[in-house]
Amino acid sequence: MEVLEAIRKRYSCRAYQDKAIEKEKLDCVLEAARLAPSAKNLQDWRFVLVVDKQAKHRIAKAANNQMFIENAGAIIVACSMSKEKMRCGQALGPINVAIALEHISLQATELGLATCWIGSFYPDKVRKLIGVPEDIDIIELMAVGYPADSKGKPKRKPIEEIFCYENWQF
Ligand SMILES: Cc1cc2nc3c(=O)[nH]c(=O)nc-3n(C[C@H](O)[C@H](O)[C@H](O)COP(=O)(O)O)c2cc1C
Repeated sequence: MEVLEAIRKRYSCRAYQDKAIEKEKLDCVLEAARLAPSAKNLQDWRFVLVVDKQAKHRIAKAANNQMFIENAGAIIVACSMSKEKMRCGQALGPINVAIALEHISLQATELGLATCWIGSFYPDKVRKLIGVPEDIDIIELMAVGYPADSKGKPKRKPIEEIFCYENWQF
């Protein structure tokens, strides 16, 4: 599959089959995250894969009751070990983790799986559920699994609205 094909195929899946992800597929998805670029090559990301049914149920509740994620084969809890800022002033942790998660999402898509980014969750509740230490930031969750829905029509701004050349022209 071409990269652009996977990008086009990816969508936020909000209904999953109650089906485990095969180990080979999961390993492939994790490898895609492992190879992601990171600021200073810090690789500060840490991922907890929640696959136990009851644990997924509890995480879904902590994700603002987004219960559709409990059926996903895995809920990935993506954390950063770093609170460092880059010279530009931006925190590198969330950026590094986001890049790795999108690698996961695209690789999963290529393998016939689907994903959903989950930013609507209560970090302190998730922290307690899976024992993430207080000094580690929980950046994002991602559901990964076999889809039970299909992609709708994507709503995206046209190129001209989001890109310009040479100078700020918005
Ligand atoms: C950082 C981030 C957080 C998100 N959080 C949620 C979420 O909590 N629940 C949800 O259903 N979708 C969530 N989404 C999915 C977005 O709503 C979705 O990407 C957007 O509507 C575009 O749709 P598409 O992903 O199907 O192309 C999130 C996406 C991103 C990138």
